[in-house]
Amino acid sequence: MLLTLEGLDGSGKTTAWEALRDEYPDAVFTREPTDSWYGDAVARSMRDDDADPLAELFLFTADHADHLSRVVRPALADGALVVTDRYTDSRFAYQAASLAESYLAGGRDPLNYIREIHEVFTHPPDATIYLDVDPETAAERAGATNKFERVAYLERVRENYERLVDAEPERFVRVDATRPLPDVIDAVRDHAERLTADR
Ligand code: TMP
Repeated sequence: MLLTLEGLDGSGKTTAWEALRDEYPDAVFTREPTDSWYGDAVARSMRDDDADPLAELFLFTADHADHLSRVVRPALADGALVVTDRYTDSRFAYQAASLAESYLAGGRDPLNYIREIHEVFTHPPDATIYLDVDPETAAERAGATNKFERVAYLERVRENYERLVDAEPERFVRVDATRPLPDVIDAVRDHAERLTADR
């Protein structure tokens, strides 16, 4: 089973992922961007305020392709539970916010375009826990240390996450991440327990 954690920067997602890691010692815990050299390239691009958004999308997507073949698919083939801190939805939400519609020929919708790129090769998540937090709280908690953590940008990212939830309500579980972190972690734990028991 492939369980993904998604949400804005500062939603408590990584802390919740760490809490789950202690609880499921036999599961494979992983994240995107990865720590491979593809992930290093992604990190370089994230530090560059002038990075071309399409080039950046493909760097993130290359990192995902490598993550799939090196970590995710082998673990799933072994029958493992895979829990990943960010996955495809991060690209659909963040890079669709970076790619203005004017960038794509024919006024193509960036989110749909990015989904199409992934559809032909990715492994879709079985379930996704979405840590929902308002952009102001997210930016404040994250400290706006990179270009993706600014309020106006995070507003667009959040709208994209909402589109994804609307399109596949059965896959997503929403957690109110404006609550104190211990409550958020408890909620994530409960959902993970239920979702993994269902399988
Ligand atoms: P993190 O906050 O989970 O460490 O993620 C690092 C940043 O990378 C975060 O600001 C979101 C961004 N990101 C994307 O823009 N697209 C992606 O596909 C992924 C995986 C992360």
